[in-house]
Amino acid sequence: QVITLPPTRSIKKRLEQTGKSCIIFYGSQTGTAEKFALRLAKEASTKYDLRSMVADLDDFDFDDLNTLESDQIAIFVLATYGEGDPTDNAIAFNQFLKGKERRASLHSAEHAQMQLQYAAFGLGNSSYQSYNSMIRQADTILRYSGAMRIGDLGLGDDGKGTLEDDFADWKDTTLAAIADHFHLPELEYTFKANFEVTESELAPTTDVFLGEPNKLHLRNKIRGPFTSQNPFAATIVKAEELFNSNDRNCLHIEFDIGTTTLKYDTGDHLAVWPVNSDMEVERFLRVFGLYPRKSAVIGITSQDLTVKVPIPARTTYEAAARYYLDVGAPVSRQLLGILASFAKSESTRSELVKLSGDREAFQREVADKRLNLAQTLSTIAPHDSFESVPFSFLLENVAKLQPRYYSISSSSLLSKNRISITAVVDSAQSSGSQFKGVNTSYLLALKSNYLAAPLDASAAALPSVPAVPQTHQINGPRGLFSQPTALIHVRRSKFRLPRQSSTPVIMIGPGTGVAPFRAFVQERAMRSRAGQVLGRTMLFYGCRRSNEDFLYKEEWQEYEKSFSKGTFSLHVAFSRELENKKVYVQDLLHDHAAELRNLILRENAYVYVCGDASRMAKDVFRAFAHILADEGEKDLKVTGDWYLRTMKAAGRWSEDVW
Ligand code: FAD
Ligand code: 2AM
Repeated sequence: QVITLPPTRSIKKRLEQTGKSCIIFYGSQTGTAEKFALRLAKEASTKYDLRSMVADLDDFDFDDLNTLESDQIAIFVLATYGEGDPTDNAIAFNQFLKGKERRASLHSAEHAQMQLQYAAFGLGNSSYQSYNSMIRQADTILRYSGAMRIGDLGLGDDGKGTLEDDFADWKDTTLAAIADHFHLPELEYTFKANFEVTESELAPTTDVFLGEPNKLHLRNKIRGPFTSQNPFAATIVKAEELFNSNDRNCLHIEFDIGTTTLKYDTGDHLAVWPVNSDMEVERFLRVFGLYPRKSAVIGITSQDLTVKVPIPARTTYEAAARYYLDVGAPVSRQLLGILASFAKSESTRSELVKLSGDREAFQREVADKRLNLAQTLSTIAPHDSFESVPFSFLLENVAKLQPRYYSISSSSLLSKNRISITAVVDSAQSSGSQFKGVNTSYLLALKSNYLAAPLDASAAALPSVPAVPQTHQINGPRGLFSQPTALIHVRRSKFRLPRQSSTPVIMIGPGTGVAPFRAFVQERAMRSRAGQVLGRTMLFYGCRRSNEDFLYKEEWQEYEKSFSKGTFSLHVAFSRELENKKVYVQDLLHDHAAELRNLILRENAYVYVCGDASRMAKDVFRAFAHILADEGEKDLKVTGDWYLRTMKAAGRWSEDVW
């Protein structure tokens, strides 16, 4: 029988029920903040006996946040998502911080100072202007309300690729500061398992999870609403290769949603739930000595009522490695350090200790080669096994496999029953590394399987570019699906065309950044055919070469025919066609500066940028700032930068970047 805690949304009550003195809230979109929170809780409990629990921000109300005792602390681990947005599970907390309730609850008594002691770490990306805005805001508001922060405000930067190290550094110093504040001694490290894992040799019965995401799927009673907790198993009804290249792939995939309640709007994102490749599943199971027992049915129970079992159970080791754990994820130096204590041989132990302590060696030998955990261990110690690592340790340290998001490339007006995505396969094979993106290599395998038995007869005739996909189990758990099928759900976005078709739009989307613009252009073309007056529609696209990676090359000419003359224009920057000069979309923007300036300043045009966040989006922003400031517009006191910010605030500048 599963024992659970009585339900409550009160922080104070939960701490009383559990006897914990530290509550670690996470705001997580892709699971990293949650992973960090779990790691922090584990270390706080084992290193300093600071009894800690992890909490989803969405599971609590915050009106008693200021009633924590003097020996209690709240820690916030908050990711900033997209353009300075809270993660889905932090929306209510964000509203609380900014709203009237906070003022009422945090300043209830006259002159009452907030009691709360807290620590804070943010996960952000310095490529975005709103870098770590969620945690900065929360920290400012809490401090302004009289709360006391212990330790520094931690800012983790994914943009510089230092997120793991930023977190590790902050964790070490902050936990030491908290321990100092609460007079907690440092304990010797011993691994205490959060979960009890029991094995049975019996064959899996129908109540054993073999890849199903939840009980509805397990019982074959799949029904909506389809959400991040309950994805839809969608059949692939079209799968095409879009590149003409020997070493790169880009896929156009269409999913059938005609038979479901799943709906989307143009500009939304599609989440696709990956499946790990056969090779990585086997490697992981072998390294940890689980391969011979891969089909054993395992029961998992939590030893601590505040710690949820992270994956569906009962299950098998194999299903855990294939469907539920992110076995391909980057490995952290800290994890290698802890694993040293499980190494069989002295040489493996010392190698792990070296890698975990030497940032440069780790970068060179692990991070640069993009090795995952099992690859790292089998490279360091090809003849050693880590079979003494408890499975609970793996459940606690290998993150859950998360869905990957794609900007939908179909229009909901024209293609209500089919959602399409445009995904470039993430593979470093050409640079000699064995890295393969988890989800895109899964999609590549789904495509090959689809081409072997297409539902859409026209697909059989499509040229298939040679590619050697990894093998994945693609017909779903228990072989339930007879056609290539993937689990999907839709995530709403704010990336929307202007309400009025007559409003001009300027779209910039090199590479797969063009995905949502295919949908935008389809929709504007349809409106034009229907006799609506269309505003100027400019699309700036960039790729390497016209005969290699020009996405949807033929389609654009078709769409153009629907627009009245001169309304639609496509401007393509081929970056590798001229010998000594790269041409990028921003160069073409400068070529059209006068028209762009006019459309933005006088015709109220909307601007959309989609694609690479690390460089392209910033470069495009700068190009526009330059273009708008160019002529001075002195009478309006326009400086480009300022003008673009006002456009953003007015919803006339939107970014969908990653
Ligand atoms: P993953 O396995 O997740 O790897 C992705 C990256 O993570 C690698 O390149 C590497 O930098 C790092 N990484 C992973 N494993 C390791 C490791 N072991 N060691 C070191 N580094 C590692 N993509 C598109 O192609 N088209 C789109 O329209 C699109 N839209 C998006 C919209 C949004 C809002 C977001 C957030 C992303 C979008 N993406 C899009 C990107 C997409 O979600 C995926 O990130 C991409 O397809 C790669 O997924 P993957 O599972 O194949 O790769
Ligand atoms: P490159 O790979 O030749 O440098 C899609 O990836 C296209 O975007 C490619 O043509 C790529 O060119 C180009 N690209 C790379 N960096 C860019 C940047 N900072 N701004 C705009 N386009 C860029």
